[in-house]
Amino acid sequence: MLTPTKNYIDYEALIQEDPEYGFRINHHLYKDEEIFQQEMERIFYKGWVYIGHETEIPNTNDFVVRVMGQRPVILSRGEDDKIRVFENKCRHRGNTVCQEQRGNSKFFRCAYHGWMYSNQGELIDITHASIYGDRLPTEDMNLLEAPRLGFHRGFIFASLAAEGQPFMEYLGRAADYIDRYCDLAPEREIFLTAGRHGITYDGNWKMQLENLTDAYHAEYTHATALAAFAANSSSEGDAEFTDRGDLEDPLSTQRDLGGGHAVLDSFAINRSQGDKLRFTGSTGTLSEEIVGKIAEREGSREKAVWLTHGGGSHITVFPNLMILWDAVRTIQPVSLYKSTIYYHPAQLKGASQEINTARIMSHQTGFGPAGFLAPDDMEMFERTQLGTVSDTDPWVYLNRGLSDQYVSKDDFGVDTSPPNIWVKPPNGVFGGITNRLCRITLNRLPT
Ligand code: FES
Ligand SMILES: [Fe+2]
Repeated sequence: MLTPTKNYIDYEALIQEDPEYGFRINHHLYKDEEIFQQEMERIFYKGWVYIGHETEIPNTNDFVVRVMGQRPVILSRGEDDKIRVFENKCRHRGNTVCQEQRGNSKFFRCAYHGWMYSNQGELIDITHASIYGDRLPTEDMNLLEAPRLGFHRGFIFASLAAEGQPFMEYLGRAADYIDRYCDLAPEREIFLTAGRHGITYDGNWKMQLENLTDAYHAEYTHATALAAFAANSSSEGDAEFTDRGDLEDPLSTQRDLGGGHAVLDSFAINRSQGDKLRFTGSTGTLSEEIVGKIAEREGSREKAVWLTHGGGSHITVFPNLMILWDAVRTIQPVSLYKSTIYYHPAQLKGASQEINTARIMSHQTGFGPAGFLAPDDMEMFERTQLGTVSDTDPWVYLNRGLSDQYVSKDDFGVDTSPPNIWVKPPNGVFGGITNRLCRITLNRLPT
């Protein structure tokens, strides 16, 4: 049962597109508690949300704990090997029943008064039950289970709403890009067994959501990293890497995939590098091992090269999953002003240990605790949030490139409408996922 909220937010007034100002949004979208609660209820509790990957719970009785919106949940592979998502909430007085981040257990025992649940969700023991006399609850007191799960290429999504958009319809065109990412593995599967780390920033969750397809910021926010990468790209076999990044590269394309999903499409820019790719996640070059194994699998070297050319694409799956380079990333809204980003290094099944180790090291260089890239972004998110304190001018401008949008086919032969939605090199770059996010929010919130 969802908590009803008032519909007093006038989203139309907070999002403006007009000839004088172009496209702009009001920064209250980042700092209004009611908007945040509506996002939780109507996006995270009613819609589809990424929960975890099958390789994180490979064995019978494996579990990991996650948070869905703000609700703690358990992703469990039960004794019957079936995967389920439960709210991590005791039916007695509501305590979380599982505190471990991950593990293998047939049971979840609440620490407060000892009620016990099986990993299939059944309440199997009420401690000192006789004291309840005839007042034992008679209704179903099992763990609350997400009524709908969706699976695609090992990625597990859940919805807390019994009815709603069918899973594959929700995933839509994001599936093409997820498939290409997984097909990069010789055995067509990725695995997320290297653990994860999280970074918490003091800012709204949408800051990260917007950022992944914002190619505009890289040249400035990541100037140090780009200079370092450029300095290290001189060895034979590496791709040319300029310290300007891809900002004005006419081949860098941002595509709207519909439904809130988006991609920063790297196919064309990687093709321009010939057989030297940036960010393949292996050794910095187009690995002969990977291409050779895929070519054998597909019976086509051309197809293998095409798959690897998608290497650097940044895939955003609304609202909380991001897949890029060597890792899977999730957005965890903690509160209106606090978010945690989790990074899961993604290894390629069927690749050599050398390749997978290189991927992890490459990921660590950019996004590890002392990485070159992640801290830059987090700092920018916090500064942007700080800017929302002043209401003197509450408008945020996201109109760059909007006047030069056009439709073209992506590498899967599908018209993206519009591609370059915020990018029209050399002048355009960021109009922002916020454009779409707010429209999505707008479309989904009023019921
Ligand atoms: S709150 Fe869980 S047993 Fe009492
Ligand atoms: Fe960044």
